[in-house]
Amino acid sequence: MFKYTCLNPIASVGLNNFTDKYKETEELADAQAVLVRSASMHDLELPDSLLAVARAGAGYNNIPTDKCANKGIVVFNTPGANANGVKELFVAGMLLAARDIKGGMDWVTANKDNENISKDMEKAKKQFAGTELMGKKMGVIGLGAIGVLAANVANRMKMEVYGVDPFLSVKNALSLSRDIKIVKTYDEIYKECDYITIHVPLLDETRGMLNKEAFDKMKDGVVIINMARDTLVNDEDMKAALESGKVAKYVTDFPNPAVMQMPNVIATPHLGASTAESEDNCAVMAVDELRNYLENGNIINSVNFPACDAGECTSKGRITVAHKNVPGMLTNLTNVFSKEGINISHMTNKSRGNYSYCMFDIDSESTEQLAASLDSIDGVLKTRIIK
Ligand code: MLT
Repeated sequence: MFKYTCLNPIASVGLNNFTDKYKETEELADAQAVLVRSASMHDLELPDSLLAVARAGAGYNNIPTDKCANKGIVVFNTPGANANGVKELFVAGMLLAARDIKGGMDWVTANKDNENISKDMEKAKKQFAGTELMGKKMGVIGLGAIGVLAANVANRMKMEVYGVDPFLSVKNALSLSRDIKIVKTYDEIYKECDYITIHVPLLDETRGMLNKEAFDKMKDGVVIINMARDTLVNDEDMKAALESGKVAKYVTDFPNPAVMQMPNVIATPHLGASTAESEDNCAVMAVDELRNYLENGNIINSVNFPACDAGECTSKGRITVAHKNVPGMLTNLTNVFSKEGINISHMTNKSRGNYSYCMFDIDSESTEQLAASLDSIDGVLKTRIIK
């Protein structure tokens, strides 16, 4: 029996996929698995029972991924599951920046009792006139699941689209329309584009990347769209850029107190993935990932451990080891099997940064003694008996 806890509401269509081997608990201290959306886990005490965390969403800056990895806790996200929801809000963001829809709607609301509204609006409307997107240059920074959809939809709206991503995967490259110009540097985007949208994870390397240095390289009157995370943008530098007119409009799904005092901000309250469809997709994917890990030991879509998928176990036993990525580990681990006279029928070992993961399929059932011997090796973070 596995116990899971939800730190935020998670769509029932996903939770319903937990079988009778699973039980929900209110207590994190009891849980083997956590499902989370935006709740911050940084200050939480992580119990030794905890095996996995699944973020129902793409960003994972609310989870201490390194602290988790050091305890052998695998953190998953759900890349792509809410990408369409975010893309559709991005389309709204572009349109809200290009046309003064909000100003026009506010005028209509203010004139709700005006009997001459039909006549008066024809005079008033010139103050809300805008521009069209067709033919403008859109720069997409970050071509992951969301960035690819944003680039493709902007292309279909007949914008001239530029994209940049130093880590562009083959799969994502193949999903991009051939009209999109892939450039090598952010500077090319800054120099060329009328609209710039950012779709990168918030990491130490990306924090504050849209700053004075970047704005200085951009066209005057550029529109910035941020559906990713607020601190990708340096607030002080954005304030100066908006005040000087360097940035004409800042569209953000991540308002904060500083941003709300700036002129020409169009802000929504983190609504990108707040659609019934995205919430369902994320919940289903998160539960699938947790189940595959808890039941089979397979890791798919982790953000702190390597992908490692040995399928369903057809051998008599399976045991998994999360360990530090240091020399000599494989020898030390396999020596334990030799000493115990256990034959390994299949072994998979994958590494990612400082962490590695090993799956051993063996010709006998795994025992507590085998797990304890593996666990006692220096550098082993977590050993799990799957079968
Ligand atoms: C994401 O990172 O995918 C979104 O922030 C998800 C959400 O709104 O929970």
